[in-house]
Amino acid sequence: MRVAIGSDHAGLEWKEKVKEILTSFGYEITDFGTKSKDSVDYSDFGLKVAHAVADGDVDYGVNVCGTGNGMAMASNKVNGIRAGLALNAEMSHLTRLHNNANVLILAQRYTPEDELEEILKQFFNTKFEAGRHVQRIKKFMEEEG
Ligand code: RB5
Repeated sequence: MRVAIGSDHAGLEWKEKVKEILTSFGYEITDFGTKSKDSVDYSDFGLKVAHAVADGDVDYGVNVCGTGNGMAMASNKVNGIRAGLALNAEMSHLTRLHNNANVLILAQRYTPEDELEEILKQFFNTKFEAGRHVQRIKKFMEEEG
């Protein structure tokens, strides 16, 4: 599995933990930064991850910021991206099962550290359910320019 990861300063710690966990799963990680606690704009890093997924350079992306909102908004602006927020393992499971998410969004301020591993397991081990969800996704994907 090839996974791109990114964060701003407010998501840096969780991004580093995500890198550790995904590496322990044997996944190939591309880390687009940020790499220090200096204040940065989440868009610069989140968009790199989203484009890597949209271009097929990696299979999935994980973007982390403080609340998850900025990273979700930025990621979802890129054509082909379905970025889903997970504040717990069930949200992670459902955003793959129902929304066929290809970018996982984490909120360092609200996603609990002790759930990170289970959140990642759920995201990467859950298959899209398809069925009734196909037309729901098709309807909003058609909004893309
Ligand atoms: C950074 O302070 C914070 O605004 C950012 O990480 C994120 O929460 C934005 O949505």
